[in-house]
Amino acid sequence: MKYCFGCLKENVEGFCSSCEKRLFNRSKIKPQLNFNWEDISKVIDGYPAGFSISGVQTKGFIGKATGSELSPILKDGEKSIYIIKPQLSRFDLPFDSPANEHVTMQMAKQIYGIRTAECCFMRFANGTPAYVTRRFDYNQDEEKLNQEDFASVLQAKKDNGGKYKYFAKTYEDFGDVLSALNKVEFIRILIFNFLTGNGDAHLKNFSLLETSDGDMQLSPSYDLMNTKIHVNDSTIALNLFRELERTSLPKGQVYSYSIKDFIELGNRFNISDRLLKKIVTEFEGTEDKMKAMINKSFLSDEARKKYLETIEKNFKQLFVG
Ligand SMILES: Nc1ncnc2c1ncn2[C@@H]1O[C@H](COP(=O)(O)OP(=O)(O)OP(=O)(O)O)[C@@H](O)[C@H]1O
Ligand SMILES: [Mg+2]
Ligand SMILES: [Zn+2]
Repeated sequence: MKYCFGCLKENVEGFCSSCEKRLFNRSKIKPQLNFNWEDISKVIDGYPAGFSISGVQTKGFIGKATGSELSPILKDGEKSIYIIKPQLSRFDLPFDSPANEHVTMQMAKQIYGIRTAECCFMRFANGTPAYVTRRFDYNQDEEKLNQEDFASVLQAKKDNGGKYKYFAKTYEDFGDVLSALNKVEFIRILIFNFLTGNGDAHLKNFSLLETSDGDMQLSPSYDLMNTKIHVNDSTIALNLFRELERTSLPKGQVYSYSIKDFIELGNRFNISDRLLKKIVTEFEGTEDKMKAMINKSFLSDEARKKYLETIEKNFKQLFVG
C-alpha cells in the first residue's frame, strides 16, 4: 500500500492533491528531492551567523517550489518557505527520526485537531529520509511575523554551560502568559506529548506567534516526536507544577503521571471542570486511532514496534493507572 507523503492517505503516489495545495501552493512536487543533505550542510557550515535557526540539530532552508522541484537556499538572505531536517546524527535508530516527527505531527493534527506546522516526509536524492515543514512565521504576503520562544517569553536563565536551566521553569509557568483559549490548547498538547512519549518539549519547543491582529498567541505546534525511540529520556521535559513534582524526588524515584495531574494543571489554569472532562473524553479510547496511523507511517519495523509499545504503555499509565 502507498500512502501520501503528507497526510498518509491511502492509495496515493507521492502527494495527494489537498497536500499539494496546502504544502506547495498547488505545484506538483515529487517526494524525492534532487539534492543531498551534504549539498546543503557544506554550505551552511560556511555561514557561522545569520543562516541558522535555533535548535540542536543543523537544519536547511528551502525557498519557493519551482516547477516540480524543491531547491535548497544556498545563499544567505534569500527568503525561505520551508525548513528541512535530516535524520539525527546520533542516538538510537537515527534513520527513523524524520518519519517519527512526521507521523507524530500528523497524529496531533488529524486525530486531535491540534494546530500544527504543515509538514511532510521526503527523501534526499540518495534515498536518506528528510522531514520538511512549511514555515508558519511568514504570512500570505511573505512578511515575517514576530515569533518568540518560551525561553525568551519566560525569561529563563542560562546556566554556566550556556544551557537553559529547564528545571527553573515549569509548564504551570506558561499559564502566566497564555490566553484562556491557549491554556486549553496547551493542556491538550501536554497530554498528547505524554501519550506519544515526547521527552523533549522544552522551553524552545513552544513559541508565541504574532497574529493578524498583532497580538501574540501560541504558535502552531512543531518538533513533536516520540523521543523514546531514540533515547531513554524523562517522561516529560519540564515539571508540570511549580512544586517540581518530578525533579524534587530523591534520586532513583520516578514520578508516575496520571490524567489527574493534567486535570490539576487545568484547575490551576482556571479551566472549567466541564471543559476538562471534555478534554479527557477526547483522548480516552483513541489508542487505536494512533496505532492505525503509526502503522501507515514511514517508520522502520523496529521503530514502529517501539512506537506502538510507547503508546500502549502511556495510555495505560494515564487512564488506567
Ligand atoms: N514550521 C515552522 N515554522 C517556523 N518556525 C519553525 C518551524 N518549525 C520549527 N521552527 C523553529 O525552528 C526551531 C528549531 O526547530 P525544531 O525545534 O524542529 O528543531 P530541533 O533542532 O529538532 O530542535 P531541538 O533542539 O528542540 O531538538 C524551533 O525552535 C522554532 O523556533
Ligand atoms: Mg526544537
Ligand atoms: Zn495528502
